[in-house]
Amino acid sequence: MNRRDFSKIVIGAGLGYGTISHVFAELLELTPSQVEGPFFPDKLPLDTDNDLIYLNDSVTASIGEVSHLSGKITDVRGTPIPNAVIEIWQVDGNGAYIHTEDPRLAQGDKHFQGYGRFLTNRKGEYYFRTIKPVSYPGRVPHIHVKVSQKNKDLLTTQIYLAGNKANENDVLYSRAGGKRSLLEVDFKPIPESKAGELMAEFNIILGVTPSDSE
Ligand SMILES: [Fe+2]
Repeated sequence: MNRRDFSKIVIGAGLGYGTISHVFAELLELTPSQVEGPFFPDKLPLDTDNDLIYLNDSVTASIGEVSHLSGKITDVRGTPIPNAVIEIWQVDGNGAYIHTEDPRLAQGDKHFQGYGRFLTNRKGEYYFRTIKPVSYPGRVPHIHVKVSQKNKDLLTTQIYLAGNKANENDVLYSRAGGKRSLLEVDFKPIPESKAGELMAEFNIILGVTPSDSE
């Protein structure tokens, strides 16, 4: 049930008491945190924008399934958190991070940015163009995500492919316990995309109050 339907029911039931809506206020579930892992870039790429497909002004696209990843960052009441920095990092289509100590760096895709960041707008929204995550030895496909504001870390987590049966065998995925599904994201084909591009939505719910986040 979405927020709108909920208020309709409350109104429909004729509950005019101010306290009722407070008691039944629908709170969103906090996005679970996950470990940062060892591969947050030790040297940021020269290009750190929200388009990971093209490095600087290169004309060669990265290997992988182009995916448009977007979402909204809010508090538990759905109040948007503007001006939050969201960073993502992930392996390229060959399974390599841009980290200098990744054993697969040499075989990496030189055209993939590997990392990007974005500042949420006043509606708390963010957007990245990247690739659908792939697996690498020991891990199922995932994208690392970090949210901060004024250099204060608010959340570090990882997102996973919805419906990937192998997720259950992934140690870090399993650590999210009963909250696992909150980290799963559907990468769906965009019907009008002839190039077979995908879209994915990941909303992030933080345990901050709007006054903390201002
Ligand atoms: Fe990773």
